[in-house]
Amino acid sequence: MWAGRFSKASEKIADDFNSSISFDQKMYRQDIQGSLAHAAMLLSVGILTKADYTAIVDGLSGILSDLDSGALSFDENAEDIHMFIEAELTKRVGDAGKRLHTARSRNDQVALDLRLYMREEAGEVVALLKKLTLAVLKQAKENVHTIMPGYTHLQRAQPITFAQHLLAYCMMFLRDITRVQDALARMNVSPLGSCALAGTTYPIDRDFVAENLGFDGVCMNSVDGVSDRDYCVELESAFALIMTHLSRFSEEIILWSSWEFKFVELDDAYTTGSSIMPQKKNSDMAELVRGKTGRVYGDLLATLTMLKGLPLAYNKDMQEDKEAVFDSVETVQKCLGIFIPMIETMTPLKENMYAAAKKGFINATDLADYLTKKGVPFRSAYKIVGEIVGACIQKGITLDEMSLEEYRERSPLFEEDLYTEISLETCVGKRISKGSTGYKSVEEQIAFVEGKLL
Ligand code: ARG
Repeated sequence: MWAGRFSKASEKIADDFNSSISFDQKMYRQDIQGSLAHAAMLLSVGILTKADYTAIVDGLSGILSDLDSGALSFDENAEDIHMFIEAELTKRVGDAGKRLHTARSRNDQVALDLRLYMREEAGEVVALLKKLTLAVLKQAKENVHTIMPGYTHLQRAQPITFAQHLLAYCMMFLRDITRVQDALARMNVSPLGSCALAGTTYPIDRDFVAENLGFDGVCMNSVDGVSDRDYCVELESAFALIMTHLSRFSEEIILWSSWEFKFVELDDAYTTGSSIMPQKKNSDMAELVRGKTGRVYGDLLATLTMLKGLPLAYNKDMQEDKEAVFDSVETVQKCLGIFIPMIETMTPLKENMYAAAKKGFINATDLADYLTKKGVPFRSAYKIVGEIVGACIQKGITLDEMSLEEYRERSPLFEEDLYTEISLETCVGKRISKGSTGYKSVEEQIAFVEGKLL
């Protein structure tokens, strides 16, 4: 392509090292879409003749359908997808193909292609997140009255409903959706027309191209237009946080599936056995999601590090953006894709959750509140209840198994109604604060999540 300037050809090993076609071929549709918009603009401002334009459109359309059908395969010796398509076009339509690159550089071309590609893929992430949130919400709706122990420090803490626990994940996923949408809104400007870095002397119409490709506007500075990969970092960072949430959820599903908890049963179709231990049923899908989180974090860090020392404008280092951001988005899509049916088919084991909630004195706060409502200062009530718990542990009984006489030995304010006050149903039902595990609050949360998804 640049033979004029050079006295000898590059070494094969250098070409191979330099080449990106093995991974940027993923963007062939966007490259052709961008070229079609560029050609239409060149025609509209009189840079291309109608005949050349028609030849280019025919040529590019043919290449697109041949690549789609597999009739044309990528030339692994091409430097990148842009060079490959331009060379193929020129092979097919001659000089018109050579005119396509007027008022364009690969620098703004690759910036455009990557934006188009990531816009689509990130849109798919949003769609998957919505589907997952709905799947979690459905489980929540079916478990508004399913009582389980809520934990802090992985110690049983206070009774909550399974719905309340699941809705916490819905809130995370809703934020994840808006984070990706925010990045999408910011990145939706066209870099095409920045050219190599300085713009061009041709009377191009950048807004025409932007509108044609569904952008909200154009990058306002040509140097920034070809240097900016902020949107990759923003998306990778949103994806990293999605993985954090999926990984925490995975960890809980793995724990809940163990014999120690047995709070849920995963469908056989989303678990695996062991090659040696016949009794095993492993939560491999959840473990893999947890495991893949690391590489998505790595992709973010790779891109940040790649960018940090780069002088403006384009540097070849930036070719490294693609493998990272592609890996990041593909991993997130795969993980969301497996999570949705895994959640849809997961069976909550309500009796086990309830039995676990019965143990661990998780109604102790409510017992202290009982005394506090009768005028005992909370700290004093806390101490009395602490001693009662200690006595129960010694006897091997739960709070509701202790007799009223024994309660009254510790405070005359205890009366028969304490037993209903500390029942798990009351502990949950009486939580009236906004956002709490109480039934009204949970219904409000369900409506809130539904409202955000519709
Ligand atoms: N394959 C290159 C990349 O992905 C395309 C841009 C090349 N531009 C250049 N001036 N070498 O970054």
